[in-house]
Amino acid sequence: MIISLLNQKGGAGKTTIAINLAYAIAETQVKVLLVDSDPQGSARDWGTVRSEPTPFTLIGIDRPILHQEVPKLSEAYDYTIIDGAPRVTDLTRSAILASDQVLIPVQPSPLDVWASAEVVTLVREAKLYKPNLKCNFVINRKITNSLIAKEVIDALSQYGIPILNTQISQRVIFADAFSQGSVVSEYDPKSTALAEIYQLREELIGATN
Ligand SMILES: Nc1ncnc2c1ncn2[C@@H]1O[C@H](COP(=O)(O)OP(=O)(O)O)[C@@H](O)[C@H]1O
Ligand SMILES: [Mg+2]
Repeated sequence: MIISLLNQKGGAGKTTIAINLAYAIAETQVKVLLVDSDPQGSARDWGTVRSEPTPFTLIGIDRPILHQEVPKLSEAYDYTIIDGAPRVTDLTRSAILASDQVLIPVQPSPLDVWASAEVVTLVREAKLYKPNLKCNFVINRKITNSLIAKEVIDALSQYGIPILNTQISQRVIFADAFSQGSVVSEYDPKSTALAEIYQLREELIGATN
């Protein structure tokens, strides 16, 4: 299964979720490939900062050949995660064509919801050729103990793309772990942040620890 984290808006949480999700899936003893498709290479930078071995394979493909290369490469893995690139339409389109499932991380603010219109359009176009393509929004950086504003839910609903039940909260541990080349699972296995990542994993692939 190939899952891509896409949103042309930078800072939505693509890389943070891609890395933590790849790690969490690898913890279930399956083979995971993480493809960094961002020319800025933030996932690869994360891999370079790391001192521990990584339980998944991390490669970079940041040209719009993802739809040709990734399906072939993914045959040797149980799950492949593509970390999307901001802005570049060609790369996003190529990633969508490579994917079985697209996850669009979005911050719960109207501005961020509007900014995801572009990727939604690309998904709609791809669905004409790939009717089985799955696509979901996942709310990221939710302020803890707050409700998502009704205007955000309404605006997201208008895109006709389902919102996952799992919501990822705004927590410094995500940024702290990242900057040390780590994931929340290593940084604090008892953290609520990790519980959210496990919930996301379960909602996506049905796996529990
Ligand atoms: N749930 C979160 N809580 C706290 N910080 C977050 C969260 N998600 C992302 N961030 C931070 O926001 C910034 C952008 O996230 P990143 O994953 O790099 O987004 P993208 O890959 O979409 O550009 C990073 O500094 C990251 O540490
Ligand atoms: Mg990124």
